Amino acid sequence: MIERTLSIVKPDAVTKNAIGAILETFENGGLTVVATKMVKLTKAQAEGFYAVHSERPFFPTLTDFMSEGPIVVSVLEGENAIARHRELLGATDPAEAEEGTVRKRFGTNIERNATHGSDAPDTAAFEIGYFFNALELHRR
Ligand code: CMP
Repeated sequence: MIERTLSIVKPDAVTKNAIGAILETFENGGLTVVATKMVKLTKAQAEGFYAVHSERPFFPTLTDFMSEGPIVVSVLEGENAIARHRELLGATDPAEAEEGTVRKRFGTNIERNATHGSDAPDTAAFEIGYFFNALELHRR
């Protein structure tokens, strides 16, 4: 099934100059970029994006981190894009991620883990709509 998923290159990976390498990994992995842009979130905007985690102990530091510098948000399209993207990212904790995955290559720790990917169709729909309107999503 052809799906769309939201991908974020987080502030740590932007600082590491890894935007190109990460997007290239997705393209080489069979996914197509149908929208992309660089934005800097406010703390409130980061809190809105991660609202589902608002009760977690790491919520304050996660939202500080996600608003500390620019991020690159993209919509990726392809066969089973949600699962494929998460496979390319690797485990949430870079220390547990498989060799060659994006988080293994560019992540620092479980919080500063270089990238985010939607985990299901309903979260993908919410997350894509959080950053992009219909005119910004391109058919390929
Ligand atoms: P992400 O895929 O963006 O989804 C939620 C984020 O919360 C996750 O990546 C990490 O950045 C962060 N996170 C998840 N678990 C922990 C944890 N145990 N401690 C700190 N941050 C975490």
